[in-house]
Amino acid sequence: MMDVVAPSLAPVATAGHKLRAADPCAFVIFGAAGDLTKRLLLPALYNLAAGKLLPEHFAVVGVARSDIADDEFRRQMAAALRQFATGGVAPGTLDDLIRRCRYVYGDFDDPATYGRLKVRLREVADSSGSRDNCLYYLATPPNLFAPVACRLGDAGLAGEPDGTWRRLIIEKPFGFDFASACALNKELLRRFAEHQIFRIDHYLGKETVQNIMVLRFANGIFEPVWNRDHIDHVQITVAETVSVENRGKLYDRTGALRDMVPNHLFQLLALTAMEPPSRFEADAVRREKLKAIEAIHPLSEADVRSDVVRAQYAAGRVKGKAVPAYREAPGVARESVTETYVAMRLLIDNWRWAGVPFYLRTGKSLAARKTEIAVRFRSAPLALFRDMPVESLVQNLLVLRIQPDEGAALHFNAKIPGPDVRVENVRMNFKYEDYFDTAPSTGYETLIYDCMIGDPMLFQRAADIEAGWRVVDPILAAWRAAGGRDLCTYAAGSEGPAQAQDLPARAGWQWRAIA
Ligand code: BG6
Repeated sequence: MMDVVAPSLAPVATAGHKLRAADPCAFVIFGAAGDLTKRLLLPALYNLAAGKLLPEHFAVVGVARSDIADDEFRRQMAAALRQFATGGVAPGTLDDLIRRCRYVYGDFDDPATYGRLKVRLREVADSSGSRDNCLYYLATPPNLFAPVACRLGDAGLAGEPDGTWRRLIIEKPFGFDFASACALNKELLRRFAEHQIFRIDHYLGKETVQNIMVLRFANGIFEPVWNRDHIDHVQITVAETVSVENRGKLYDRTGALRDMVPNHLFQLLALTAMEPPSRFEADAVRREKLKAIEAIHPLSEADVRSDVVRAQYAAGRVKGKAVPAYREAPGVARESVTETYVAMRLLIDNWRWAGVPFYLRTGKSLAARKTEIAVRFRSAPLALFRDMPVESLVQNLLVLRIQPDEGAALHFNAKIPGPDVRVENVRMNFKYEDYFDTAPSTGYETLIYDCMIGDPMLFQRAADIEAGWRVVDPILAAWRAAGGRDLCTYAAGSEGPAQAQDLPARAGWQWRAIA
């Protein structure tokens, strides 16, 4: 193995173009008592505050059911921050953020809640000078997305009078299938305009995911070979060691396909497969990503049978720890046929990618946590070193490691020193940590900040969401028709089901090892 030596802090070009503090605003969290708020949103706001990226005129307004006063809400949020901040808390920053927290109680379905919210927002605008700009974060169960948006609209809290802005961040899952996603888009668009709706995919907040575009488009060497003439296939893996834990009830109705594929995996695919945008600007980038997803070859029922594998984990050991079978998890039906793993082979119908398989897989309770994109190049056109055993001439491979161990590696053949010509596969390995000092973050900082400055590049539009579901719907339909007979199993802690190996094996390949 050959590792590139990191330069001793050689000058690194940084974009550094958006470090102004965000616009004055109120950050309204629906579902302020929930886990998302405590574990991710507040810690992300804290990190933004510590980085001086929050505006001077800023308030957090929590909305939840229990009837508590501002002080109690502040106490809860301070406790959450002490527990979940990614890098400890500095008392000054903590106090300053907590001082800005306010609370509104009420049922999300009750118009009176929005009356109280309106009064509170008026007070906030008057006292903090937040200029009536509001970011509504819907950290609620998905069945409340449309009702909350609708009530906000009815209360006159969706309009953007006099140069103010009102933005809505919607969490996933965005819909349950194509029809429900379209229906949800329609509902939201009755009260908010498309430019006000920020549909989040937290994968786009990951530095390494954003880096895919930089790697492809800020370097001259990759783009000329980034096509069917030079690339044999692409493997996209999102492997998790976590099981369904306490999410059994919700997960059993969702499954790995809905939970991960139309969103996170398709985002990785789109960034890998998209054409270079004409500008690094939200519409241009999102247009190209959408075109890539729309170009995925539609799957027939027969394609689903041959090119998609679904599986559920049986009991096993993950990193030495015993994990009971999925069907034993709390909230999961004993006869459940919900998949905790899915693998598929997709083709992209355009000139760049025609005939190049994209293999995607994701699963829970696997051997290791690993998210990566592996791009396998074609063989050299001439087998010049004829005496080489063929397995020693490995085709070039570029691996973008998204998490953990963030970085990228290029695998290529090199001569083993000595009088005869012998070849070995070696690796140039770039690790983020060797070059960049990054403070631990939740991954939500960029997304929240971008929403506050009105940059929608990392968010999805209605059409983007619908395009993802359009690909996934035929898989759901074929699985329904199969009634669970096609469900495979794999031991928790393994590399996944044996049947998934068939997908790359048909073209003479294997999945890269997860562990
Ligand atoms: C979420 C899924 O969107 O992403 C979870 O609902 C999954 O099931 C999670 O565990 C994975 O995110 P990350 O950032 O840990 O890779």
